Amino acid sequence: MIKINDYKFDPAFVLAPMEDVTDTAFRRLCKEMGADIVYTEFISSEALIRDAEKAKRKMMFYPDERPIGIQLYGSRVESVVDAGKRAQSVGPDFIDLNVGCPVTKVADQGMGAGLLKNCDLMAAIVKALKEELTLSVTVKMRLGWDLESINVLQNVKILNEMGVHWIAIHARTRAQGYKGEADWSWIKKAKEISEVPIIGNGDITSVEKAEWALEYSKADGIMIGRGAIKAPWIFRQLKAYFFEGKRLPEPEFEEKLSIARKHFTLLVEHKGKYAVSAFRRFSNTYFKGEKGVAKIRQRLSVSRSPEEVFEILENPFKLK
Ligand SMILES: Cc1cc2nc3c(=O)[nH]c(=O)nc-3n(C[C@H](O)[C@H](O)[C@H](O)COP(=O)(O)O)c2cc1C
Repeated sequence: MIKINDYKFDPAFVLAPMEDVTDTAFRRLCKEMGADIVYTEFISSEALIRDAEKAKRKMMFYPDERPIGIQLYGSRVESVVDAGKRAQSVGPDFIDLNVGCPVTKVADQGMGAGLLKNCDLMAAIVKALKEELTLSVTVKMRLGWDLESINVLQNVKILNEMGVHWIAIHARTRAQGYKGEADWSWIKKAKEISEVPIIGNGDITSVEKAEWALEYSKADGIMIGRGAIKAPWIFRQLKAYFFEGKRLPEPEFEEKLSIARKHFTLLVEHKGKYAVSAFRRFSNTYFKGEKGVAKIRQRLSVSRSPEEVFEILENPFKLK
């Protein structure tokens, strides 16, 4: 069971934080599809305390996204705490610390997954956040730096002692990046020793896989990343199955188009003309497997205005 403010989820279906993906438009779309909890993209603590506009914009959210967490990364205690206070002031439901980003320029500077090699620093950051903030503090982490140095259980113990609100675990090491399979046996072991809720993450792309993962690991929730990019309606399918025992099929193309229009409308509201390029990432989501998809993709790739994209989404097979 996951409780946050007045919300309760059992199990919780969580949209994973994803840079350049989980902006407010995609989060709102996934909430409408049934996602319980969402996070912002990760935000640099250093950028936030420099008052960088781009970082500040990433903290913006709408009331219909709640419960929402702002995810921060950093490796200097004072910076993360200062950033945490700024994040807290915009009123999210929780503040999350990123202990998993594998990207070299982040991890090699001791941030993100870099903290997996420096548990004392991770603990110091979390302790300071807990002391200085009134909001709940959560952590999202990987299993360890590499297969030889898996320290997830040690970290779960430390984070329990620190009193984090929950721990989300992506069941891969930093060295694995996104390759190989997520090893859910670690999530099961983490759940066995943790007093605070555990959210399992990695490779959930279907209702069947979600059912298996929850049953096997006994996690309090599951977090979905790439599976939601491919199929944002996965949350609707999960809710229908777990709470009504119904298996919803993949939406028909007409419905996917209507979801795409909703998504793009939210994106334009958020990004204006920049919605056009941001939307290209989702061409597979809505068009994969359709006849004429190459042509649609090509039209999307040369579209320059929201009007052009809306025209494609109204009538994708109209030849130009
Ligand atoms: C494009 C992309 C961007 C990501 N950005 C973040 C991020 O900002 N913060 C974070 O904690 N994890 C990030 N991740 C990792 C995901 O949250 C998640 O842990 C990972 O994709 C595994 O889950 P999945 O198999 O369901 O995709 C990102 C993943 C992808 C694919």
